[in-house]
Amino acid sequence: MLQELQEHLEWAFAQAEPLKHGKNAGYIPALAEVDPERFSACICTTSGEIIRVGEDNPFTLQSMSKPFLYAEALATFGIETVHQHVAVEPTGKPFDALIDVQSGSKRPHNPMINAGAIAIASLFAQGSERDQVRRLDHLFGRYLGRTPIQFNTRVYLNERDTAFGNRALAHLMNHFGMLGGSVEAALDFYFKACSLQLNCRDLSVMAATLANGGRHPLTGRRVLPGRYLRDTLTVQATCGLYDYSGRFWFDVGVPAKSGVSGGIFAVVPGKMGIAVYAPRLDENGNSVRGLSLLKSLSQKCRFHVF
Ligand code: DON
Repeated sequence: MLQELQEHLEWAFAQAEPLKHGKNAGYIPALAEVDPERFSACICTTSGEIIRVGEDNPFTLQSMSKPFLYAEALATFGIETVHQHVAVEPTGKPFDALIDVQSGSKRPHNPMINAGAIAIASLFAQGSERDQVRRLDHLFGRYLGRTPIQFNTRVYLNERDTAFGNRALAHLMNHFGMLGGSVEAALDFYFKACSLQLNCRDLSVMAATLANGGRHPLTGRRVLPGRYLRDTLTVQATCGLYDYSGRFWFDVGVPAKSGVSGGIFAVVPGKMGIAVYAPRLDENGNSVRGLSLLKSLSQKCRFHVF
């Protein structure tokens, strides 16, 4: 069974490897300079078996931090409070769209876009910088199964220095009363979460925790209550790949999340977490090879939930 999965993963990898189009994220220098040929993938099953392909280079979590922040917010503050700050509607717009905080209730549309994730970050961004690092360590360390977590300082500083759009979003949300703390504290928490450094093996284990009903596949520890897991995967299913979410669901059919580093993780409920990393992005900000690999693998293994 595992042998067959390894063969399927290698086959999907080989399908995607010749793809050379797309570009590294250009707006963060530390991401623009990464070797665009990097390509790796890893699967962690819900029983903790790990298979991989490609050289497992480190990358940053970026927007793939968003589902975990949302899940933690639900578990910490409760659904009602969290949903006073963010809704759960897809946007059909890019991840950094400014318009999303201006319509209707003034809440950002969902926690998978920048505006929504910054609103969520504001709920956690209390206390000193040390408290915030401790909070992130506690949050992500449980999914990784180890602490302390590592940050890529260069990416963090680049994020902070180039975040003109995110800063505008945060100020606008602050104007509408959507933030739970100060603009700067919310942004800083968000940048730190984006610059968490890991590899495909780590990411597959985090994804497998979501696939395993919220229980870590290696430590056996319950990380997230089932109700919040359901809510998080629902939002990932509808909003996880921004304005490509509908097509991704059509082609691949499992909850996923992408990030501008070129990572994508997918959750096959009850079965496995899949992580893929390849830095070249398409026009929606999703990894070109990553999408291809997930599509091939899903078709081969019949992952689509319908
Ligand atoms: O907010 C930003 O600009 C990034 N650090 C995170 C964005 C991201 O990963 C969007 N994903 N495709």
